[in-house]
Amino acid sequence: MLVLWNGKLVSKEQVTISIDDRGYYFGDGVYEVFRIYDGRLFEKTAHLERLKRSAAEIRLTLPWSLEELDGQVKQLMSASDVTEGTLYLQVTRGEAVRAHPFPANADPVTVAYCKPAGRPVESMQDGIDAVTVEDIRWHRCDIKSLNLLPNTMAKQSALDAGAAEAILHRSGRVTECSASNFMMVKNGAIYTHPANNWILHGVTRSFVLGLADRLGIEVVEQPFDLAELRTAEEAFITGTTVEVTPIVLIDGSPVLSGQPGPITRRLQQAFAEAIGR
Ligand code: PDD
Repeated sequence: MLVLWNGKLVSKEQVTISIDDRGYYFGDGVYEVFRIYDGRLFEKTAHLERLKRSAAEIRLTLPWSLEELDGQVKQLMSASDVTEGTLYLQVTRGEAVRAHPFPANADPVTVAYCKPAGRPVESMQDGIDAVTVEDIRWHRCDIKSLNLLPNTMAKQSALDAGAAEAILHRSGRVTECSASNFMMVKNGAIYTHPANNWILHGVTRSFVLGLADRLGIEVVEQPFDLAELRTAEEAFITGTTVEVTPIVLIDGSPVLSGQPGPITRRLQQAFAEAIGR
């Protein structure tokens, strides 16, 4: 596998990351996951801009301009020859003797690689099961940081319960999911948590809300609670790797008929058209 490592294309075996890398000790870094369709990055600018914002929010100066990163990522993609899949990119604050304060002279460490992956056709068609889980993350979920322990714990508890995704809530108020944004439909309108500090501002989320707008579907960006969730007529998640995936069962109870609903289907179709499928 080819890896973009601090601006150079090398094989995975050639990469050496220090045990003193702050990403390793503190999760001190930021990342992005891009989707590759037909050899091109989907919503590339939005992902690059979010990386820049995440880095700025943790006071990490990116070692590259977005134009430079764009050029490097293009090189990586053509050398990797992945036309359908994902591109992972992370930047850590770099190597320094373990101590909490930001190091004065560390050089940020950048790593990126491509991985082949198909679209999740089956779960997009049939829908997935979800369980509700308390959201125990910090107050800056808008930063796409490497600190994903609460997310991995939530995902694992969903899998342990026989479900595929965890719907997170803070004392009953629904925020998002462990690795995707959450939306429900009621009376023909889409309800989703506003893009503030309590959720990741998903690139797919805003793309899908744009599609909804064009289709004339009302969007209400307001928090709602678990009791309202129980009355959802449709539910779905959005994300780079899941696109628009219906949720058909929540905590063991079917969402309305237990089948993906009509608004979810319209959004899936519009999404597929937008990516040329
Ligand atoms: N996760 N919310 C969380 C907590 C996420 O981790 C993600 C994406 C999303 C969806 O955002 P986007 O549409 O920009 O992919 C929402 C990526 C795929 C991951 O960590 O693997």
